[in-house]
Amino acid sequence: MTVFLGTVLHFTDDPWVPCHEGHDDPKAYHLYDPGALVVRDGVVLWAGHHHECPREFVDHGRVVDHRGHLIVPGFVDPHIHSGQVDSIASPGGQLLPWLRDYMYPSEMRFADPDYARAATSFFFDRLLECGTTSACVYTTIHPHATDAFFAEAHLRRLRMVSGKLLMDDDNGGTVPKEYLDGPVEQAEEECRRLIDRWHHTGRLRYAVSPRFALTSTLKALRMAGRLYQESRHTDRPLWVQSHLAENRDEVRAVMEKFRDSLDPRSYLDVYDKCGLVGPRSMWGHSVWIDDEDRALLADAGAGAAFNPTSNLFLGSGLFDLDGAARARARVGLGTDVGGGTSYSMLQTMNEAYKVVAMANTYPHAVEEKHRKTLTGLRAFYLATLGGARALHLDEHIGSFRHGREADFVVLDWAATPLLKRRTEVARDFHERLFVLATLGDDRAVKQTYVLGEPVLRHRWTRREA
Ligand code: GUN
Ligand code: ZN
Repeated sequence: MTVFLGTVLHFTDDPWVPCHEGHDDPKAYHLYDPGALVVRDGVVLWAGHHHECPREFVDHGRVVDHRGHLIVPGFVDPHIHSGQVDSIASPGGQLLPWLRDYMYPSEMRFADPDYARAATSFFFDRLLECGTTSACVYTTIHPHATDAFFAEAHLRRLRMVSGKLLMDDDNGGTVPKEYLDGPVEQAEEECRRLIDRWHHTGRLRYAVSPRFALTSTLKALRMAGRLYQESRHTDRPLWVQSHLAENRDEVRAVMEKFRDSLDPRSYLDVYDKCGLVGPRSMWGHSVWIDDEDRALLADAGAGAAFNPTSNLFLGSGLFDLDGAARARARVGLGTDVGGGTSYSMLQTMNEAYKVVAMANTYPHAVEEKHRKTLTGLRAFYLATLGGARALHLDEHIGSFRHGREADFVVLDWAATPLLKRRTEVARDFHERLFVLATLGDDRAVKQTYVLGEPVLRHRWTRREA
């Protein structure tokens, strides 16, 4: 048993309150300062105020002192690509030419098993140094690269959701032939083998992963939907992940492509008509959707990934966080590396605040009572319990409730001279948290714990002011 001392923050609900700018629901979060987190056998035994920590824990436990630092649940990234470690920061313009010119060629390198293994290990190092302990991850089309992903995640004892990309349509010649699946039957067989091998192996879960509607034939989307639906009422239901309504050219092309076959109401309707929308389905971006789509996501128990650094980098648009909250849709905060420009969920919070601020300039939001800002607390909610709920993993991760898996991150308010100076003059805890979200990055991560064990061997040396 180990007792971790520090400032402990976690959520039991979304602190979002309708139409109350800058206010958080005080019932949604727990702040213990000074606090203690007690871990036994990799799970949370107790979290609370230090002075209320039962004597037996302190007397019999090992004490790890992180006092003066912030302890939060490990970050959950619901949308990221392990196949894009070497194509982050690619100057390719908007989504479709960027995919063609940079992403597909870069992901093709995973055909080489040695490269795939080394790149995957590098990927996990980046996640953990940023405090991200769980993620929903796109690999590449290659089954062996997906094997390498799951093997590495299993070795590191991480809770991860992932799956092999499904791609069998070259989208007007933009995808190289060598980077396409074979016949749908073969791709299905590859998925089934990966599912047999990895789904529910330890903490791992499999996500059926059609890349997006433009790189899948209708037959492949239906096959993906069938795999998911077949599993839904078993004791091992599958996850689904795909990209939805990220970019306006993409939306137009999707509506055109499926007009005759599906006569869809919206982009989401294409996926829905193929049986892909339901609980544990995770929809990346969801920028150009409407209230009917949001209601469908909410009713279905599906999740949306808000990927601000990516949406800004690719000039895709502004996610409507408030609209999603009003619809009561499940939302997590994602990096979408390599469309996103940072592995750090803190940097992602920083950009999320700006996206929400910009969305306030939309015509429907000009009335002041509709304007919302993203508070520091809500940003941390989205990056922890929000992501866990969006992925239906909140029974396991995302908070410090009794029995949850003890994945957590220790953050240093004074990791850089600027952070130190600015957090010292913050007026209260909320402002301090906001400053950490805005100015923090991987340097603020003092240690990351997986199932109660530290996983970072070396850290940045702190330069004193
Ligand atoms: N849409 C289809 N594939 C991708 C991808 O790799 N990244 C992003 N951002 N959008 C996509
Ligand atoms: Zn993506």
